[in-house]
Amino acid sequence: MIKPDATAKGYIGAILQMINEAGFKIVALKMTRLTDEDARAFYKIHQGKPFFENLVDFMTSGKIVAAVLEKENAVEDFRTLLGSTNPQEAAQGTIRNKFAESISYNAVHGSDSDENAQIESDFFFVEEEVYA
Ligand code: CMP
Repeated sequence: MIKPDATAKGYIGAILQMINEAGFKIVALKMTRLTDEDARAFYKIHQGKPFFENLVDFMTSGKIVAAVLEKENAVEDFRTLLGSTNPQEAAQGTIRNKFAESISYNAVHGSDSDENAQIESDFFFVEEEVYA
């Protein structure tokens, strides 16, 4: 998911290009805006953490781009392409190194397991949109 900071700054095209060039196939894509309820549901594992309310405010502050990506070893390779959650620690050439401004406004979210990738794909897309 490309987050509201990155969509507002016009980075959608550059980020999708990096994703393609890293060998990911984009199989579903959608620009939308999360409601408060959506953001709380999407990030429910972080409920109660000190940054949760800020995260919900940020994620509902503008449009996001949701994508389903396909690749061998996609979860791990995408996290490598993203770089660390904290952009100060993100390796050179990673998406967060280039486009994120802080640990909160970090440009892109990636799923952390195959299981969560399926759950997060189902959050945004119906099966026919992914497997058309
Ligand atoms: P993301 O990978 O989308 O998963 C949870 C999000 O919470 C994270 O990226 C950040 O945008 C946000 N966040 C804000 N503060 C923190 C923090 N201190 N630690 C981890 N995540 C944070």
